[in-house]
Amino acid sequence: MKSLQPKNPKDSLTVSTRIVLPNDTNTLGNLMGGNLLSWIDLNAAICAHRHSGRVVVTAAVNNVSFNQPIRLGDFVTLESKVSRAFSSSVEVFTDIFVENRSTGEKQKCNEAIYTFVAVDQIGSPIHVPDLVPETAEEKKRFDAALRRRQLNLILAGKMKAEDATELKALFL
Ligand SMILES: CC(C)(COP(=O)(O)OP(=O)(O)OC[C@H]1O[C@@H](n2cnc3c(N)ncnc32)[C@H](O)[C@@H]1OP(=O)(O)O)[C@@H](O)C(=O)NCCC(=O)NCCS
Repeated sequence: MKSLQPKNPKDSLTVSTRIVLPNDTNTLGNLMGGNLLSWIDLNAAICAHRHSGRVVVTAAVNNVSFNQPIRLGDFVTLESKVSRAFSSSVEVFTDIFVENRSTGEKQKCNEAIYTFVAVDQIGSPIHVPDLVPETAEEKKRFDAALRRRQLNLILAGKMKAEDATELKALFL
């Protein structure tokens, strides 16, 4: 039973901005996908740590979409918020925006969902505070997180498909 103080998504909001340098790019001069994954992992891990107040480890990369190329010299802003907390794990949503240096125009280009687990000094999972969503988007992401968790655990071989009640409800 949890006795930790619940938190809101804004409590874990983590924002960072980076510039795409030559070492970050592929031969086309666009940001390498693997570099973006690493930036997301760091930003989202800080977010998960802020929510849980604990060291966290990356348990799963649930979903990442690469919708458009990010070019050399672009400013990239990552905004991570916890979308749902379970027992020891938290799901973190990261929205990625690219900013044109000349015009200052900022547009959303990617979205990523990672799962982190809070651990104690010996690396064992430990309870995290509940999450209370506030905005309409936070509530939508909160509700869908349970289905994503079940799908993720099935794919990881940690849950039987017949136990995934939320997922089954989508189809039956
Ligand atoms: C993540 C880790 C701590 C889970 O430990 P475990 O002994 O498997 O623990 P459990 O099976 O009891 O699961 C603990 C939590 O992790 C979650 N979890 C485990 N595997 C998961 C996966 N593949 N996807 C999503 N969540 C997962 C469980 O759902 C559970 O969450 P809950 O407590 O909120 O219900 C452990 O697997 C680990 O240390 N992995 C390595 C992490 C790491 O080094 N990451 C960097 C990679 S380079």
